[in-house]
Amino acid sequence: MDVFFDPSLLLPALSASTLLVVLWRLFSSKRRQGMPPQAPHVLPWFGNIYSMLTDPVGWPAKMHNKLGDVFTTTALGHNVTYLRGQPNITAFAKGSTRDLDNVGGYKRVVEPVAGQELFMSNLGEVQEALDIRRLDKIQPALFQFIRTHIRQTLRDRVPSAGWSDTIALQSFMNASIFRMVCFCLLSPEVAVNDGDFISERMLAMDLGGNLGNLVIPWETATDRMRNKSRSEVVTCVARHALGRIIQLLSEDVDESPDDFMGYIIYTTWTQKQLRSASKADLEGFARKVALRIYVLFFAGFLPTAGRGAWTFQDLLTKNPAFLERIRSDNDRLVEDARLFGPDAAPRVEEHDFLYACITESIRMHPVGAWLRWAEKPFLLPGHGSTPPMLIPRGFVTVTTEAIGFNPTVYSGPDDYNPDRYFSSPFVAKDDEASEKELIRLDHVRAPPMTMDKTLQPSFGVGAHQCPGRLFAYRMIATFVSALLESFDLELVETEENRDGKHAMICVPLFGSRELTSDITIRLKKREVPF
Ligand code: HEM
Repeated sequence: MDVFFDPSLLLPALSASTLLVVLWRLFSSKRRQGMPPQAPHVLPWFGNIYSMLTDPVGWPAKMHNKLGDVFTTTALGHNVTYLRGQPNITAFAKGSTRDLDNVGGYKRVVEPVAGQELFMSNLGEVQEALDIRRLDKIQPALFQFIRTHIRQTLRDRVPSAGWSDTIALQSFMNASIFRMVCFCLLSPEVAVNDGDFISERMLAMDLGGNLGNLVIPWETATDRMRNKSRSEVVTCVARHALGRIIQLLSEDVDESPDDFMGYIIYTTWTQKQLRSASKADLEGFARKVALRIYVLFFAGFLPTAGRGAWTFQDLLTKNPAFLERIRSDNDRLVEDARLFGPDAAPRVEEHDFLYACITESIRMHPVGAWLRWAEKPFLLPGHGSTPPMLIPRGFVTVTTEAIGFNPTVYSGPDDYNPDRYFSSPFVAKDDEASEKELIRLDHVRAPPMTMDKTLQPSFGVGAHQCPGRLFAYRMIATFVSALLESFDLELVETEENRDGKHAMICVPLFGSRELTSDITIRLKKREVPF
């Protein structure tokens, strides 16, 4: 024991470490002048990675409360600067077209999971190709497709009379949502023939509880499985893209096609380029299309499936009057549709209250952080008495908690209350309103996303806000509407989810809470009275 502990060394050791601490503090405070405060950590290089992985929502909120609206931390050798509050969000949104690169930010985090072909997409094309006009056009066919899928999937699980056994909602909701993604981004035929094949492989990309795999530096069996799934998805989509290119060549198209795949082919290559291309060139084009669509599978499917689960969880566990109201809206829409034929699709786009419920669930369970990358230090402008600050090279992220829970916009922010979108400070898209302070909602009863007054917490801000938002709402609403048309539904609680206590993961850095335990329900076939 004496060999390891000599009391006479204690004093010099203590003095040396005190000196080191004082020097480090002096040096670091000098170095950090004009820069954001640093979150404390013990291990150099590793920094606060443990807190960021295990508590990506709570930890930044705690640090903001301690250090202010801007602070920097270290994670695996990178600087990560967290921003909160409107002036900082505005600077983030404006800077993100010049100094803060969004691809640089997302790529570094998502690429290890999704693969290096990510972010080859022309992101503007999603906005254009999935606008309201195109979504409305595709809606009746989409509804009928999902209605058939849901009925077929549940055929053997729901008896012709009485309640079914317990069913895990996500198992068939996720498959339906993915089929909708395939239907809209590829084609109805591909969705029917290959939807399940692609969906199974995309589901293999979901990290689930296996977050640790992200920080393992060598290739694991999980990585190999993901790489294989990715390559199978891309090959399958490229085959269909080649078919679509050949079809477009034979049609001599003048106007941009209405289908998503046709649209992105048409807006990327001219007829002349396509006509003069060799077979190998065309295969190369098809692969590019496949990679771009693969990115959208990834960006679109997982967050939509996650928000869909929360929408159901909230409807089934909060005020039962909300679900009743959606049910009766649905019956009215189905009844209206029946005037046009026994199978005509209801107008899902008119599900006003359901949209308010989706908006409310997304507010309460948002994607908790948006990312950018500062290649060189970025000057965050000052505001009020806050001086300008130099944000170090590295990740820059906005935390959304304070946006969605801002009590001046959302009174009683901790309550699930979709009714809030039917009264002040909100006003519907088409309602007359003279008061400037009112917040005009959009097509899906959601507050707008503006750079100067960020009211929409989950879809980003500025030039790079989510272009798939309306499509995501449409997919969730189509699923809810088709399910309620054919079935009565009741929550069944289990040991895993009793009193709403679900198992969840918090996705590192993005800070979105995802349910990992099942929402368990039972279903009864409806005798639809019209
Ligand atoms: C409820 C479901 C969804 C949520 C919560 C969500 C959320 C987000 C967020 C937070 C961003 C980052 C915004 C920023 O950094 O400023 C984003 C970007 C993006 N999302 Fe979504 N998203 C959803 C559905 C979709 C869908 C269905 C698609 C398309 C099929 C899609 C395509 C994209 C793309 C392409 C980007 C990158 C935009 C850019 O960098 O310019 N998302 N999304």
